[in-house]
Formats: sequence, structure tokens, C-alpha cells
Amino acid sequence: AIVGCSGTWRKDFHRTRIGYGDSNARECPPIGMESHRIEDNQIRASSMLRHGLGAQRGRLNMQAGANEDDYYDGAWCAEDDSQTQWIEVDTRRTTRFTGVITQGRDSSIHDDFVTTFFVGFSNDSQTWMMYTNGYEEMIFHGNVDKDTPVLSELPEPVVARFIRIYPLTWNGSLCMRLEVLGCPVTPVHSYYAQNEVVATDDLDFRHHSYKDMRQLMKVVNEECPTITRTYSLGKSSRGLKIYAMEISDNPGDHELGEPEFRYTAGIHGNEVLGRELLLLLMQYLCREYRDGNPRVRNLVQDTRIHLVPSLNPDGYEVAAQMGSEFGNWALGLWTEEGFDIFEDFPDLNSVLWGAEERKWVPYRVPNNNLPIPERYLSPDATVRN
Ligand SMILES: *[C@@H]1O[C@H](CO)[C@@H](O)[C@H](O)[C@H]1NC(C)=O
Ligand SMILES: *[C@@H]1O[C@H](CO)[C@@H](O)[C@H](O)[C@H]1NC(C)=O
Repeated sequence: AIVGCSGTWRKDFHRTRIGYGDSNARECPPIGMESHRIEDNQIRASSMLRHGLGAQRGRLNMQAGANEDDYYDGAWCAEDDSQTQWIEVDTRRTTRFTGVITQGRDSSIHDDFVTTFFVGFSNDSQTWMMYTNGYEEMIFHGNVDKDTPVLSELPEPVVARFIRIYPLTWNGSLCMRLEVLGCPVTPVHSYYAQNEVVATDDLDFRHHSYKDMRQLMKVVNEECPTITRTYSLGKSSRGLKIYAMEISDNPGDHELGEPEFRYTAGIHGNEVLGRELLLLLMQYLCREYRDGNPRVRNLVQDTRIHLVPSLNPDGYEVAAQMGSEFGNWALGLWTEEGFDIFEDFPDLNSVLWGAEERKWVPYRVPNNNLPIPERYLSPDATVRN
């Protein structure tokens, strides 16, 4: 597949405007849809026709792959023409927008391009301000063919973080490519330094004791009460609760059709990196959600995420107390009773396959929630492998 990094932004499709005196209103440069300075996860759309025509393909001069139905195709195309569709760019900083450049779909077969559209702006991607001409939402006139870029300037620049294009009419299917003109108002690092994971990120990378971990999870829950919930899976032999953090737009609810996902760390109590990574991840998801990071919002809205930072807290405590200088590789690896949880999953497959052969599924044996076989729970269970 050919990725559209060729072609440059050309000055020759400018339209001059009258009454352009204010130097502050001068046109801003492209923010980087075409150059990829804007990353894929900063571009979002209401829908896509298929993966190869996702929002990330909606960059100016993006080229289609060689074949029809290529995995990398030549535009963003919306799935369904009937509802209101949009494509959105998150600049991740406060930006003064001065215009957009639109283009149709790169294709040897299709004649798809947007002929008119509205433009909206937002600081949080929740509340949108539509661009008006003073009386009503202003209609911008876009493309007349699929290839030629057309510049639409905003008569008055707008300051915001997000910009959206709402196509109103189009030829063929609803497809477009886009560049945005904007100047940063705030320095680059204002959003990045706080939240984004970049090479220079200043992470607070220290070990969290059981108490510190519990405290941190409490703080995350207080910072993001609408999307988080902490709960306990049960207690360890030493009586420490095994905490989980649920992150979802409806914490506590099993939403039909929504996938559930769990990361579990600290299975070997003395292997500690996973615990810190999950604690950082929950802070990141909370903060980014609040700041309207579209990718994180999608994750939280469309998935029920469970993070279990320490499945073997007893082992962690034993190893941490002794310290790496005096402990050995095995100290704290297993549970108090000597189980290696990493290799000690109950074998539920045999139970299910056996039941299926007997045609007991799903009436006599359910296939959605298999009980733990009794011999795993009996008090005289010995170390198994
Ligand atoms: C976004 O916030 C800035 C101030 O930080 C404000 O000037 C601007 O009008 C806001 N834009 C929108 C679309 O609400
Ligand atoms: C608009 O699309 C139709 C097919 O949907 C095509 O036949 C026609 O040539 C297109 N119009 C232009 C101006 O390209």
C-alpha cells in the first residue's frame, strides 16, 4: 500500500479575502494532517465504511492502495449516509483555527467528494459551537471533484482545541480528506506535559507498598468517580484484600454486548513491574478521560476494563520487607501456601469438553460460567502442577 506522504501543501489554491487588515487574523499553517504531525489517535469520526476508510485515512493527499477494497484506502468514508456524520481533529492544545482544506476520495473508480459542510469547534469534544455567519450555521462550499483541494477560510478565526467537519451534501458516497489551518495559542507542552506519554515523560516511578497502592486507587476513584469503581476479589491468606479497579462509563454494570477486559499483575508477588504499570495506567485513563482524549473516551465508553495490580499481595509484602539485597528469587514468588498462581489455573476445558461430548451443554452444564471443580476447593488440596 502507498501511504500518502507525497505531495505538499501548495499556496496556489488560496482565495484572497477582503478586509484582512488585522495581523492577528493572518492565515495559519497546516496543523499536520498531511504531514502526520497530527497522530492517528487525534483524528476521530462518527463512523467508517470499513477499516481501510477510517478517520485516519482522512488526511489531505492520502493515497489509496493499489486495489479496490485495499486495507489502506484513499479517504475517510462514513458508514451510513442517513445520520449526521462528522470527522474531528484534536489538536491537544489551544489552537487558533483559520481555515480548512478539503479534498475528495483518492480513487480510480469512485467520484466521492463533499460539496457543502458545516464546521464546529469545542474545547472538550462534548459541547460543540457551530460556526455561524451571524444569523445561522454557516455553509461552507467544498469540493467540485475528488482530487482538487479547496481552501475554505474562516471569516473570523476561532480559538478551541477540537475542530469538526459536518458534511451536508456530497457527490457519490460521503468521503473526504482534510487539512486544518491553525496556530498554537498555548505552548506545545501544556497538554503534553501533564498527560501524554512522550519520550521525556516525567513519570513518578516508585514502588507502592500495599498501603500506598490502596491509597492511590482511592485517589483515582475520587478524581474520576463517574468512570471508576474499586472492588475486592477476595482476601489473601494473610487477610489482605485483592483490589481491582473497574474503568467503564457505567462502572458496576454489565452492559450487554460490551466486551470486558482484565489486566492482572503481581501474580508472582516478588515481580513488581506489572503492579506499577497498572497503577500508572489507571491514573492515565482517568486523567485522559477527563481531558477528553478521544481514544481514551472510546475505550472507556466501549469496554469494561478491570485492572488488578496485585493478585498476590502477601508475596509482595514478604519480598519487599526483606529487600532485594537479602531476599532470593523465590521469596514471595508463590502464595503463602506455596501455590504458583501463574501455573495454577483450574482446568475448566476438560470439564466443558467432556460435558459437550455428552450433550449436556447448555442445559445440564452452563457454558458461560463454569464452577471451580470441587477438588480445587477442598481443604486438603495439595500443591498441584
Ligand atoms: C475555548 O477556550 C478558550 C479559552 O481557553 C476560549 O477563548 C474559546 O472561546 C473556547 N472555545 C470554544 C469553542 O468554546
Ligand atoms: C458524481 O458522482 C456520480 C456517480 O455517483 C458521477 O457519475 C459523477 O460524474 C459525479 N460528478 C462529478 C462532478 O464528478
